Amino acid sequence: MGPDAIEDRASAITVSLGRQRYRVLVAEGLLKQLGARMGQRLSRRTCALVTDSNVGPLFADRAKQSLISASLKPILITIPAGEKSKTLKQAAAICEQMIAAGLDQQSFVVGLGGGVIGDISGFVAAIYHRGIPHVQVPTTLLAMVDSSIGGKTAVNTADGKNLIGAVHQPSLVIDDVDVLKTLPRREFNQGFAEVVKHAIIADGKMFKQLQDWKASEALALQQLVLRNIKIKSKIVAKDERDQTGKRALLNFGHTVGHAIERAGNYRKFLHGEALSLGIVAACAVSIKRAGFPPRQRDAVFDVLQRFDLPTCLPKNFPRNKIISAVKFDKKFQSGKIRFVVTPHIGAAYLATDVTLNDILEVVAAL
Ligand SMILES: NC(=O)c1ccc[n+]([C@@H]2O[C@H](COP(=O)([O-])OP(=O)(O)OC[C@H]3O[C@@H](n4cnc5c(N)ncnc54)[C@H](O)[C@@H]3O)[C@@H](O)[C@H]2O)c1
Ligand SMILES: [Zn+2]
Repeated sequence: MGPDAIEDRASAITVSLGRQRYRVLVAEGLLKQLGARMGQRLSRRTCALVTDSNVGPLFADRAKQSLISASLKPILITIPAGEKSKTLKQAAAICEQMIAAGLDQQSFVVGLGGGVIGDISGFVAAIYHRGIPHVQVPTTLLAMVDSSIGGKTAVNTADGKNLIGAVHQPSLVIDDVDVLKTLPRREFNQGFAEVVKHAIIADGKMFKQLQDWKASEALALQQLVLRNIKIKSKIVAKDERDQTGKRALLNFGHTVGHAIERAGNYRKFLHGEALSLGIVAACAVSIKRAGFPPRQRDAVFDVLQRFDLPTCLPKNFPRNKIISAVKFDKKFQSGKIRFVVTPHIGAAYLATDVTLNDILEVVAAL
């Protein structure tokens, strides 16, 4: 099959950021076509195929064979699965392996995995020989609808998440929705927290769809992924470097969400689960400060629960730790809180009148 015939079957979106443009392809079975797809867009031949110890055994062979059959020369680099791998040390180890394999400024990096692999492989691509192209092949729902879009790459330090990083847009993003079939249910569901967030801040129609979302019909899932990529990329295009406040809307639910993740030492809740609780908190603040109708808050609860996402904290959870973490957050600057509120489902804005006391109140009630 020629590349043009392949192109027809995948839904494609072009993300435009200033002078940069790149394609995001979404379809079933794309992994087998990786090589052909990349050959179409990149004239380079050698690449690092970066993956983790869970994803590698499932999909690396298929990806590698596809690259080889398109005359590309991949070297496979597998790192231990999990957030603990997202460090400067691990990024350096990947770079060292690339140097040892003779990869240079004419090479590129392919990240095959969830958000952890997307972030660290993107960071490596941003710094290797002062920047080489990055291709994202996300394998979690969260990575498809969120982390692979927008060009933010990073690693963590002992003091916090994503403190070292770069903005480095990918050259191509390839979403094969088939790979989501092996994703553990809890991981799959946490991706829906970002989807619900997108619906609340920008897409009332999608929210209605989520209210009667049934099972995982492949085409429906493909369309949902596509729609979320459009929402995120449209917002990012307005504010690539977080300067005008537009991109901040994507932080809806994240002020309290991040604080809960931190208060639980990043072990108690997955990111999407903490975000679910953060969304509940943001809805409560929105009722007080933005006239958000309580009935819509109830609808948000129902949708989150549909995906087995938490809507209240365990009784004994240390709520004081959440407040300390909110204060630590970089969005809490010189006494003012940059807090995103929603006046109704499908819209959001950055409020300037939310106080720490408002947050204390809603956290106490969570
Ligand atoms: N760059 C951004 O804009 C951005 C946005 C949101 C989140 N993030 C980052 O993304 C990361 C979280 O991403 P994540 O939730 O995808 O985590 P992850 O990459 O750790 O993946 C979750 C787990 O699922 C496994 N896995 C991945 N794909 C699989 C598959 N298809 N089948 C079976 N198992 C699979 C992984 O090995 C891992 O154990 C965090 O580090 C977060 O900071 C970045
Ligand atoms: Zn998030």
